[in-house]
Amino acid sequence: MTVSHARPGIVHHLPPDHHGRNLRADVRAGLTGSPKTLPPKWFYDKNGSDLFERITELPEYYPTRAEREVLTNHADSIAAAGPAETLIELGSGSSRKTPLLLNALKKSGPLRRYVAVDVSDSALLEAGEELSTAFPDVDLQAVAADFETQLHLLPHQGATMVAFLGGTIGNMEPEARARFLHHIRELLLPTGGSLLLGTGLITSPDVLIPAYDDAAGVTADFNRNVLRVLNTELGADFDVEAFEHVAVWNPEQEWIEMRLRASRPMQVHLPGISLDVRFEEGEELRTEISAKFRASGITAELEAAQLNTVGQWTDEQNRYALTLAEVK
Ligand code: SAH
Ligand code: AVI
Repeated sequence: MTVSHARPGIVHHLPPDHHGRNLRADVRAGLTGSPKTLPPKWFYDKNGSDLFERITELPEYYPTRAEREVLTNHADSIAAAGPAETLIELGSGSSRKTPLLLNALKKSGPLRRYVAVDVSDSALLEAGEELSTAFPDVDLQAVAADFETQLHLLPHQGATMVAFLGGTIGNMEPEARARFLHHIRELLLPTGGSLLLGTGLITSPDVLIPAYDDAAGVTADFNRNVLRVLNTELGADFDVEAFEHVAVWNPEQEWIEMRLRASRPMQVHLPGISLDVRFEEGEELRTEISAKFRASGITAELEAAQLNTVGQWTDEQNRYALTLAEVK
């Protein structure tokens, strides 16, 4: 595994061709499967990260505001229940809500460092600049790494809180979630510490669906961005606008599914992986799941990974929860 300082300020745990190799393997597996799928990780080039930030400001997309509300009201209680020397944030993106947590952790104990972990260099760089001005006395580390496969490479430095905010755990399939939570436990075991987990709660489809299908079409653009990434990275020739954005609530699985529906038959060439793929008219490619949870389901999944819930806080409308769990 190469550890280099490829960009100023970012420690790269991703091997030089991690991006390329992983993308090729994921796209081949996803586009040759039935139904066709792509993992949501590949939304987040610079354009995708910017589009996600715009989503967080949409009137329909309530999760970011709900999580901010929970942190505004309860960060002090969270920090008191899980004081830490190191805060590691996974999938940190713009780190916009993180100051609420950093300020609370500073009050509750000797917070020394903040480690932001993301696959998106652009998000890490922008977040780093803002936080270094606001927190000159906290050691800020930006780590480009994949939280599904590289948690073991993260630094162990004193009692640690791992924050996984935004509801991103809902973008994993149930088996991947279980594996991920076991890896979190292994990460925390040597020093002790806690996991702060943000999750969307099950609410009315009338609220959920518009959150993933907004009137201004920003989510549609975000969804299609994964095809632009494939065009750029693999020389593919997706006619991006020929795919319609679809967001449906799956009540059995209790998750939102985002899909891209082919508006006409298409033959797509992907020279980067020597693959040609046919789409029938109306065929749907699944690009993301966003699972929503019940409070009891969250604690049960944590429990299955031997993580003991010590506190849970929700927003006024009960649409979003932050759960704090400790290693047993
Ligand atoms: N936590 C932020 C951002 C959520 S968007 C918030 O609450 O607003 C999801 C973030 O996870 C993006 O920044 C994306 O680049 C990152 N991400 C997605 N899959 C990842 C993976 N496998 N490893 C590391 N980061 C990932
Ligand atoms: C990052 N993740 C938690 C977002 C979500 O709500 O599942 C991604 C997103 N997809 C569509 N809108 C936002």
